[in-house]
Parts: sequence; C-alpha cells; structure tokens
Amino acid sequence: MRKDVRILLVGEPKVGKTSLIMSLVSEEFPDEVPLRAEEITIPADVTPERVPTHIVDYSGNYAHTNTHKHTHTQSICLANVICIVYSVNNKKSIEKVSLVSLSAVNQIHNCSIDEWLLFRVPLILVGNKSDLVEHSSMETILPIMNQYQDIETCVECSAKNLKNISELFYYAQKAVLHPTGPLYCPEEKE
Ligand code: GTP
Ligand code: MG
Repeated sequence: MRKDVRILLVGEPKVGKTSLIMSLVSEEFPDEVPLRAEEITIPADVTPERVPTHIVDYSGNYAHTNTHKHTHTQSICLANVICIVYSVNNKKSIEKVSLVSLSAVNQIHNCSIDEWLLFRVPLILVGNKSDLVEHSSMETILPIMNQYQDIETCVECSAKNLKNISELFYYAQKAVLHPTGPLYCPEEKE
C-alpha cells in the first residue's frame, strides 16, 4: 500500500490550475487567486482511497528564475501523477498539451536516478473552463491521447461551477493507486 500520493498540476498560463486547487479545497470558485497555491495535503480520511494526498501547483509565470526552474524540475520528479491542464476555450493551450506532456515525460526520464526510467508516471489531461463552451474538446484531445501511452485518462471540468472537480482529483489518485498500464513499483518488490 502506498503511503501517500503526490499530484502535480502543470499547463499553460491562465488555464486555471490554481483555481482548480482552490475550488477543490474551499468548495467554491475563488474570485481572485495567487499565481501559485501553497502545497496542500488532503488527510487520508477525507480522500476516497484513504491515502494522504499532496497537491502541488505550478505557475509558468513563477518559474522563470533559475531557482524556481530547479524547484519545478524537482516537483516533476517527485510527482506520482501529473495533471496537464488546458482550457477548453483556448486552442493554443490545447495545442500545447502535446508539448507539455512530452516535456514532463522527458524531465521524468532525466531525473538522474536510474530507477526513474522504470517508473511510469501517469498523466491526466484536464480540460478546464467547461462552463464557457457548449462543445466538448474530446475530439481534439483524442489524437493526443492516442499518441502518448502515459496519458491515463482525460476529464473536462470547471473550477467555476465546480463541475467534475472532486472527480478529477479522484482520477489522479486512482491512476497512482490502481494503474491500468504495466508499472514497476520497487516498494512492492521483496
Ligand atoms: P498561472 O498561475 O498564471 O499559470 O495561471 P493558472 O493556470 O493558475 O490560472 P488561474 O487559476 O490563475 O486562473 C486564470 C483565470 O481563469 C482567472 O481569471 C480565473 O478566474 C479564470 N478561471 C479559472 N478557472 C475557470 C473556470 O472553470 N471557468 C471560468 N470561466 N474561468 C476560470
Ligand atoms: Mg496559478
């Protein structure tokens, strides 16, 4: 049994990463959010899978100094699952999903420790701001999903009307605890 789960949110600026975290925590849409939310830990007894869950925010604006770039690489390496957030009403953020996925996967593989190569860190595509559109972005996102086997699932949600927010974090938790793909886990090896 894992002792905890670490979820990292990445994606283009302004797609709503911080808002998603704040909406989950406060169960209401925050009018104003900081660039980056402090790391939060959800205690085991209030998560569906009963495992303490850390949620880590990432802000592109915040990461342009070298210190912060380093922190970013570190958080990518520590993450058990990465949520790649795009905004369903922003084409550019959808186009960037492939790039962000690729870069996250590459960074994971560059995390020096050889063992990292044996891990598979699941990715989840998160289409936020579903309140702003009538049509689903799934058609655009499916080819990207087929391209990367690390993508576990995708979900459309809205931080604003709280649609699919708890589901999103549940899928992330589940991707770590009950992976569908082959996964080597040294902790379980005797
Ligand atoms: P950076 O930290 O700059 O990378 O941005 P971010 O991805 O953390 O986005 P942030 O949470 O700061 O939200 C950006 C803007 O989108 C804010 O004005 C939010 O109010 C708005 N926003 C976030 N989520 C939603 C949503 O679900 N629906 C709508 N309509 N607006 C949203
Ligand atoms: Mg932010």
